[in-house]
Amino acid sequence: MTTAQKLTVQALQWTGTALKILDQRQLPATIIYDEYTDAKGVAEAIATMRVRGAPAIGIAAAYGVALSAYQHYSGTDGRWREKVTADIELLAKSRPTAVNLFWALDKMRSVLNAQQDNPLASLTACAGKIHADDIADNHAMGELGADLLIGAKGVLTHCNTGTLATGGYGTALGVIRSAYQRQPLAIYAGETRPWLQGARLTVWELSQDGIPATLIADSAAAWLMQSGAIDWVIVGADRIARNGDTANKIGTYSLAVLAKQHGVKMMVVAPTTTLDGSIASGKEIHIEQRHPNELLPAWYSEQTSLVSAWNPVFDVTPATLIDAIVTERGVVLNPAEHGIPSAWLV
Ligand code: MRU
Repeated sequence: MTTAQKLTVQALQWTGTALKILDQRQLPATIIYDEYTDAKGVAEAIATMRVRGAPAIGIAAAYGVALSAYQHYSGTDGRWREKVTADIELLAKSRPTAVNLFWALDKMRSVLNAQQDNPLASLTACAGKIHADDIADNHAMGELGADLLIGAKGVLTHCNTGTLATGGYGTALGVIRSAYQRQPLAIYAGETRPWLQGARLTVWELSQDGIPATLIADSAAAWLMQSGAIDWVIVGADRIARNGDTANKIGTYSLAVLAKQHGVKMMVVAPTTTLDGSIASGKEIHIEQRHPNELLPAWYSEQTSLVSAWNPVFDVTPATLIDAIVTERGVVLNPAEHGIPSAWLV
């Protein structure tokens, strides 16, 4: 049995008429799925981080469009198409940085536009295919990335890029899973403030598979690298520009700078659905800012207006600091020199 088969907790479950979303805000203490039957609910689940991680956001939104069609399609009311289109716009506003969201919505929109009559079967099939393809892509990336790790002793990852962030298996965490099956590997995870995706999700998800991992405070990364314990930093991505600049969870850029200083390599793992062929560099990426209260201890907002918080939740790592970008279609070594192959840009 592979680790992927063993893991039973999935971020998303499609029932045929509803989408069950694991409320990741409550992990690891509570495993609870909420059931959604309309796009509005799915958009809210994305915006409030019940479901998060670029590929999982895209898949959830695709099912959201299918749910919209179930809610609004009627053989007699010709306005159903307008209503589904409005729901697509609503879903597009749920989070700004992960390009997988917009990629998935574009796919669903083109199926909708191609359909003259009952769209339910074709939209459901498209969402299901986006989901299944993502899992297959993760496994392909897992093998390609693990090839780069031959002989590595230790890795550090950031945020959560596993089954919880994808259709299943994971991007950066998929590479770590695949490498761990092949060879001994020390796995470190940064806690990933302020949402603690590393502490609450990554080390928990690995433990569900029986894979040991060591949590570090984000601020311990430099000292960990200085100790010689890790050979690679391995992260996912929310959007990759044509030149290889990569937006990912806030703190990724710091890790890349530290990795350069310590002779540690930097690997980005993402499916081609995370590539944004429309932008030349990371300067064009919209970085999401979330509410200051996600960062500020409650006392401040209750007691004084003098203290505020700056809360960007992604940053951009320049391609010059990245050693390898792994996609399901292949690996780009030294992306600053080569950029992303144009054949991969959809
Ligand atoms: O704010 P989040 O939790 O959605 O951020 C997630 C990340 O930054 C991940 O690293 C990225 O989406 C890749 S997930 C395979």
